Amino acid sequence: MDRDSFYRVIFGRRDVRGQFTGAELDPKVLGRVLAAAHGAPSVGMSQPWDFVLVESEGIRRAFYEHVYKERATFESSLDEEARERFQRIKIEGILEASLGIVVTYDPQRGSPHVLGRHAIDDAGLYSVCLAIENLWLAATVEGIGVGWVSFYREDFLAHLIGLPADIRPIAWLCLGPVTHFEQIPDLERLNWQSRRPLRPHVFMDRFGEHAGVDHLAQLPGEDAETTE
Ligand SMILES: Cc1cc2nc3c(=O)[nH]c(=O)nc-3n(C[C@H](O)[C@H](O)[C@H](O)COP(=O)(O)O)c2cc1C
Repeated sequence: MDRDSFYRVIFGRRDVRGQFTGAELDPKVLGRVLAAAHGAPSVGMSQPWDFVLVESEGIRRAFYEHVYKERATFESSLDEEARERFQRIKIEGILEASLGIVVTYDPQRGSPHVLGRHAIDDAGLYSVCLAIENLWLAATVEGIGVGWVSFYREDFLAHLIGLPADIRPIAWLCLGPVTHFEQIPDLERLNWQSRRPLRPHVFMDRFGEHAGVDHLAQLPGEDAETTE
């Protein structure tokens, strides 16, 4: 395995909103990216996901309009200063992307004896999120942008794409070739939220306790003196 390439992909992955070219997505690339998602770990090997590829202009337009209503709902909850910052942020690339993919969760898959889910129902949901992350990283390797859109009501999207009653939409992903990947996440570039340093979030033995972490982990970006 090429370690450096792997970490370049991890840290080079971006949520893409404004850089989609709209160019056609090579079906072979799409196949590889979906296969990467389908190869994700899942509780009890239930693989509880499905992927609805959305090309339809009508469906995309309807979703876009819904997302803009939800954007307005969120915006109305902000104070004036936050609202001004939020207004500069693009939150989706639904119409510009080459393809939409709705990733769904089927809680019945493999039931009733999903090994490892008897105590933690959410483990099925976690599995779907891992499939999405695999898809996202594979797309990055392929030079394809992915943007996750969550400004929607589940029942609206479920109805729009005809989901059966117990299947949940987990994400609408915008996919496609891009002009470039930004180095810095949009929310940081646009002064909404900054990435946090890692060290304050690593504990030893009990939540909140940092003592003892230092001798175990030299973290990237820190030199020896700062941790001693
Ligand atoms: C569960 C989830 C939901 C998200 N929803 C949205 C969204 O609705 N709109 C958007 O622009 N970005 C969305 N994002 C992307 C995040 O804003 C983004 O991952 C974060 O700012 C870090 O940037 P990066 O992915 O480029 O590193 C979502 C990400 C996740 C994991």
